[in-house]
Amino acid sequence: MKTLLSKEELREGVLRMADEIAACYEDRQLTIVGVLTGSVVLMADLIRAIDLPMRVGVLQTSSYRGATTTRGELVINSELMLDISNRDVLLVDDIFDTGHTLVRTMEKMRDFAPTSIRSAVLLRKNGRQEINYTPDFVGFDIPDEFVVGYGLDYEDMYRNLPFLAALEPEDLARHKEAIAGGTA
Ligand code: IMP
Ligand code: MG
Repeated sequence: MKTLLSKEELREGVLRMADEIAACYEDRQLTIVGVLTGSVVLMADLIRAIDLPMRVGVLQTSSYRGATTTRGELVINSELMLDISNRDVLLVDDIFDTGHTLVRTMEKMRDFAPTSIRSAVLLRKNGRQEINYTPDFVGFDIPDEFVVGYGLDYEDMYRNLPFLAALEPEDLARHKEAIAGGTA
């Protein structure tokens, strides 16, 4: 694995985002909603660094990428989410790739009549966006590589790595072996 962002660089980036967010909302109460599962590590660090009164919640999105379903089909489960009507809401996700997940999730949240809704992402992948939207807060712009760690997964593994790494072909081969070993 090739490290793209060290633990220290991630920490600095997250603190910078937290300061920008706090400055944007001044002393207003914030409702911050993390997208499961990729945002959990970012959420844990970010919410503790934002010096504002806040409510914290989560929602879950899942996209079915199997061969039998249409690409891009996105299911948003907002049952876990707290009440966001008449609130200033910040949606937090791990990565802005094509942009569909974040934009569709924000559209769905607008149905619940928040006062305002903004977005924060740890990462934005260069040259991948298919949607004309810019997240309000972005931690880092990264090259178009598949990355894991700090919440991001490959087949639900590697979320716990404290740094961000790009997966290389050897890693994928090793991953397949580990999976096979685990089910034997
Ligand atoms: P989008 O809808 O294309 O913007 O995709 C967003 C979702 O795809 C993220 O929330 C991630 O779960 C996943 N994703 C996109 N790129 C990566 C990556 O490089 N590593 C891990 N997950 C990724
Ligand atoms: Mg995700």
